[in-house]
Amino acid sequence: MNEYAPEGTPEGTAEAIGDGTRAVRAGLPEPVKNEPTLPGPVFAAHFHLPGDVEGPYAYGRDTNPTWTLLERAIGELEAPGEEVHTIVFASGMAAVSAVLLSQARTGDTVVLPDDGYQALPLVREQLEAYGIHVRTAPTGDDAQLAVLDGARLLWIETPSNPGLDVCDVRRLVDAAHRGGTLVAVDNTLATPLGQRPLELGADFSVASGTKGLTGHGDLLLGYVVCRDPELAAGVRRWRKIVGAIAGPMEAWLAHRSLATIQLRAQRQWANALAVAEALAGRPDVTGLRYPGLATDPSHKTAARQMRGFGSVVSFTLSDRAHAERFMSALHLVEDATSFGGVRSTAERRGRWGGDAVPEGFIRFSAGAEDTEDLVADVLRALDRAGRAG
Ligand SMILES: Cc1ncc(COP(=O)(O)O)c(C=O)c1O
Repeated sequence: MNEYAPEGTPEGTAEAIGDGTRAVRAGLPEPVKNEPTLPGPVFAAHFHLPGDVEGPYAYGRDTNPTWTLLERAIGELEAPGEEVHTIVFASGMAAVSAVLLSQARTGDTVVLPDDGYQALPLVREQLEAYGIHVRTAPTGDDAQLAVLDGARLLWIETPSNPGLDVCDVRRLVDAAHRGGTLVAVDNTLATPLGQRPLELGADFSVASGTKGLTGHGDLLLGYVVCRDPELAAGVRRWRKIVGAIAGPMEAWLAHRSLATIQLRAQRQWANALAVAEALAGRPDVTGLRYPGLATDPSHKTAARQMRGFGSVVSFTLSDRAHAERFMSALHLVEDATSFGGVRSTAERRGRWGGDAVPEGFIRFSAGAEDTEDLVADVLRALDRAGRAG
C-alpha cells in the first residue's frame, strides 16, 4: 500500500486555516516516527510487483510516491477541503497540451485567447492539424463570450501573459456551461494563492508550476486540477501515452518550495504593487498594467475574483533602444524571461517576436527583495535610461 498516503485534511478545517498554515502543511503524510516530515524524492523506474498488478505504484511513467504528495499539496491549495484530482506534468506546456489534446476531437471547436502565452499559437496549429476548429478572441471585456457558440472547450488565461488583461471567469463559465462547453483556466500568473478557478466554476485549473508556484527559477513543472473523475482520467491517460512526466527531483523540489508560497507571494505581490505605483508617477512610462492598481482597467473584475494580484507588472517605454537602456541599467533585476521567482526579472518582451506588443514593452516580475531597494533600482534605471536617450 501507499505508505506515504496521508489521511487528508480533516473535514471542516480546510477553510478554518489560513493560506500560510495550509501551505506549510500541504500534502504532508501522517507523521511516522523516525521518518522525515517530507519524504525525499523516490527515484524509481519500476517498483517491486510480485503477482498481479495491484497497488498504487507499478511503473514510474504512471505513478510515483513523490508526485502523489505533490499532487495532494497542489490540490489542497487549488481547492481547499474539496476532493479534487491533480495531475502533475514535466512543464506547464505539457499540462496545457494534455487538457486541450485529451479533450478535443476532430471536428470539435476550441476557443483560445488571442493574447495569451506565446506558445498558444503553436498549440493552435497542432489542434488545427488534427481537424479541430480554433476560434480566438481577446481576454479583455470578456470578448471570448462572442465566439463560444457550440464549442467543446473554452481556454481562459487570466490575468493574461504578458498584457495582464483580466476576464470575468464566472461570467464566462456560466455562458460556456449553458452551451455545454468545458472551461479551463490557466492559473499560472495568479498561482492558487491568488485565484481558485474551480471555485469560480471552471472545470480545469491548469498552470505552469515553473513560475510563482515554486518561485526559485530552478525547475520546470506543470499541473492540472479538476473535480470530475472522467475528465481527470482523460488527462492522466494523456500523460501516460505522451510520457511528459515530472522528474522525482523536480517534484520534490516543488513540494519543498510550496511551503513558502504564501511568504513569497505576499512579498512579491506587495513589491509588484509598489513598483506599479512608482511607475504610475512617471511621464516616461506608458501602457502601465497591474490588476492590483485601483486605476487599472481590470481592477474591478480582478478584485472580485482574485485573492492577490500577482507579481507581474507590464509597461512600455518609448522604443526598443529606451527599453534596452532601461534593462541594462537595472542592478537588482535580472534580464531573463519567466516570472514569479524570488529574484526580480524583467525583459523586453518584443525580443521574442511572438507577442503583439510594442517594441518598448517591458514585462516585469517582482521578486522578494526589500521593497525600497527594488523600487529605488527601477526608478534609478528609468532615470539613467531617459538621460542616455
Ligand atoms: C501563462 C502561461 N502558461 C503556460 C506556460 C508554460 O509553462 P512552462 O514554461 O512551464 O512550460 C507559461 C510559461 O511562461 C505561461 O506564462
